[in-house]
Amino acid sequence: MSKGKESKGFVVWLTGLSGSGKSTLAGALCEKLEARGLAVERLDGDVLRGVFPNTGFTKEARDEHIKRVGFMASRLEHHGVIVVASFISPYREARQFVRGLCKRFVEVYVKTSVEECRRRDVKGLYKKAAAGHISGFTGVDDPYEEPLTPEVVIETEKLTLEKSVEAILKYLKDHRLID
Ligand code: ADX
Repeated sequence: MSKGKESKGFVVWLTGLSGSGKSTLAGALCEKLEARGLAVERLDGDVLRGVFPNTGFTKEARDEHIKRVGFMASRLEHHGVIVVASFISPYREARQFVRGLCKRFVEVYVKTSVEECRRRDVKGLYKKAAAGHISGFTGVDDPYEEPLTPEVVIETEKLTLEKSVEAILKYLKDHRLID
């Protein structure tokens, strides 16, 4: 990038319960952005936990993990990359920390009730948590702190995937993050 040219990077941070639809939405959003020829990097919770396999689920472990990946997101943004991050990121303070690192941070709350996530149970983890095979599961016996002032709220029980992506793109256009 030439010196002095305004960076085109920004960070879209999807937060929500396991099974809320973050990854699906992130994937669909990335496709749309890439189709516009933009440089996009996707950072996904399950993928990054595969890369850093010793990451735990205590508050401390989650916060540290979110701060690390948030730092990575901010560096990518700095170099003009669009980052689409999808992590449960259940704690407000860690999300605020990441917001503070980034220049243009768009927090998207993927709002799906725990009842609906339990009904979907794509990975069978809610069933395992209910049976006591997993403890400290977000939304079951571990907290999820809802965003208080997210830039976008996507209610997946009311919107189709297509409409959800459109709502995020509209926010990005309205705020001149994309053309
Ligand atoms: S975060 O809380 O640290 O942001 P992250 O998004 O990286 O979570 O990973 C969440 C994924 O880990 C879930 O979608 C699920 O597949 C898996 N998982 C395993 N154990 C737990 C747990 N105790 N709580 C939440 N998710 C868990």
